[in-house]
Amino acid sequence: MANEWGPLGALAGEWESDKGGLDTAFSHSQGKVLGTPYLEKCTMKPFGPVDNGSQHLYGLDYRSAMWRGDEENPFHTEVGYWLWDAATGEILKGFVVPRGITTLAGGIAAADATEFTLKAAMGGAQYGIGENTYLAQNASTLSYEVTITLGEDTWSYDEVTILKMKEFDEPFPHTDHNTLRRVG
Ligand code: HEM
Repeated sequence: MANEWGPLGALAGEWESDKGGLDTAFSHSQGKVLGTPYLEKCTMKPFGPVDNGSQHLYGLDYRSAMWRGDEENPFHTEVGYWLWDAATGEILKGFVVPRGITTLAGGIAAADATEFTLKAAMGGAQYGIGENTYLAQNASTLSYEVTITLGEDTWSYDEVTILKMKEFDEPFPHTDHNTLRRVG
C-alpha cells in the first residue's frame, strides 16, 4: 500500500487468528484470575487524508472481535481508528470497548517501523481514557499500553491494561496478546 499510511499500511486488510490469543483477566463468574485462549477476527479499512488545518492524517477504520470458541457472540469487541501523521511520526489508536470505555493511545514511530508502542493513561493530557461511572468505582482503567509487531502478512500485539479493581489492593494487570494472519 502507498506509504501515506506509514507503518499502518501493513495493517490494512482482513485478519484472523487461530486460538492462539491469550487474555488474562479477573473472571467475576469464577471469582478468580483466568487465562483465556481466544480466536480473533479484525478488519482494517484505509481512509484519508483527514485534514486538521496543515495536518494531514491517514488512517484505518477498524473493527475487531474475539471469541473463546465456537460461541455465537464474541466476548470482547473493539471499534475505532488507527491514525498516522507523517509530518511528526505520531501514531494514534482511538477505540471504544463496549463495556463503556473509550481510549486514545498514542506514540511516535518511523514510517518504516516494524514495531511500535502506544500508551494512554487515565487523566492523560493528550492520550487518555474515559469510562462509565460503575467502572470508575469498581474496575477503573488506570493505563493502557500496546506494542505492535509487523511481519509478512502477519502482525502481533501485546497489550497491558492496568485496572484498579475493588477485588485487589494492588493495581491489576489485565493482559492480552495475539498474532493475526492476513485472510484478505
Ligand atoms: C483482546 C482484548 C481484551 C479481551 C479479550 C478482554 C477480555 C476481558 C475479560 C474476559 C474480562 C473479565 C470479565 C469478567 O469475567 O468479569 C475483562 C474485564 C475487563 N476489561 Fe477487558 N479485554 C480486552 C481488552 C481490554 C481493554 C483494551 C480494556 C480497556 C482499555 C479493557 C477493560 C476491561 C475492564 C475495565 C474490565 C473489568 C470489568 C469488571 O471487572 O467489571 N479490556 N476483559
